[in-house]
Amino acid sequence: MSGIYDDPWAYELACSFRDVPAEVDALLGWCAEHDAKPASVLELAAGPAEHAREFARRGLAAAALDLNAEMCAYAAREAARDGVEVAVVQDDMTRFDLGRRFDLIVTMLDSTSHLMTLDALVAHLRRVAAHLSPGGLYIVEMSHPRDRLGDDPSVSTGWTVERGGVHGSVRWGEPGDRLDPVTQIADDHVTMTITGDGGTRVLRGVVPYRFWTATELDAAIRLAGGLDVLAQHGDFGAGQDAVALTDPAAWRMITIMRGA
Ligand SMILES: C[S@@+](CC[C@H](N)C(=O)[O-])C[C@H]1O[C@@H](n2cnc3c(N)ncnc32)[C@H](O)[C@@H]1O
Repeated sequence: MSGIYDDPWAYELACSFRDVPAEVDALLGWCAEHDAKPASVLELAAGPAEHAREFARRGLAAAALDLNAEMCAYAAREAARDGVEVAVVQDDMTRFDLGRRFDLIVTMLDSTSHLMTLDALVAHLRRVAAHLSPGGLYIVEMSHPRDRLGDDPSVSTGWTVERGGVHGSVRWGEPGDRLDPVTQIADDHVTMTITGDGGTRVLRGVVPYRFWTATELDAAIRLAGGLDVLAQHGDFGAGQDAVALTDPAAWRMITIMRGA
């Protein structure tokens, strides 16, 4: 993995279109809907661990795991700067063994698209099940299958962000980044142009991406065992703000599971 994931500050800027506190509100809202009141949380493939840091601000015992050393160092540094405690671990989300359990585990922003094979997804789900407290929940956010299987499949997305006077322009995927129809893998070319922090710099890299369908996820969960699906949503928003996976406005595939 190269490029944007090796520059966590730039990655965080690129992802600043998200409202992390609102997403954590939704995650905790879903926990409440399923009679869970988590005291501990583990964020997997956490990158800069923005959600783990937000959970820690709200008093949960938070941990974050990522494969990338730069991301782990950045997450630990930012947590310390925020004055919150997040236990950061560099490890693989298909193999980790932390020797403890969590009331809530989350994987955000389609990070499961970095699991390239069915074996890897199943191994990941088994590790999650082994780390859940009794009654604990796993919430995984993936991209909506419509992105790839809809009438107008998107292989290339562009957006701009602005934070503290720094401007970022991101292109994720190029028109030529086609999914291999057999493996469902694409090499996404990512370009980010950053202006305002003492000049302009351009980050370029290739991020391998594996597309998972809803039915494949369902099959992987059954194959892994140890997790029951409670609900699926098409965007962040609990209670009256809930968006069904089938809603035309749905753009995420968020699955809530309970340790069986
Ligand atoms: C799209 S970023 C998401 C980061 C974070 N979840 C967020 O919401 O901003 C994907 C992250 O997955 C990490 N990653 C990729 N493969 C991984 C693996 N096998 N185990 C753990 N982390 C992995 C990358 O290093 C990267 O930080």
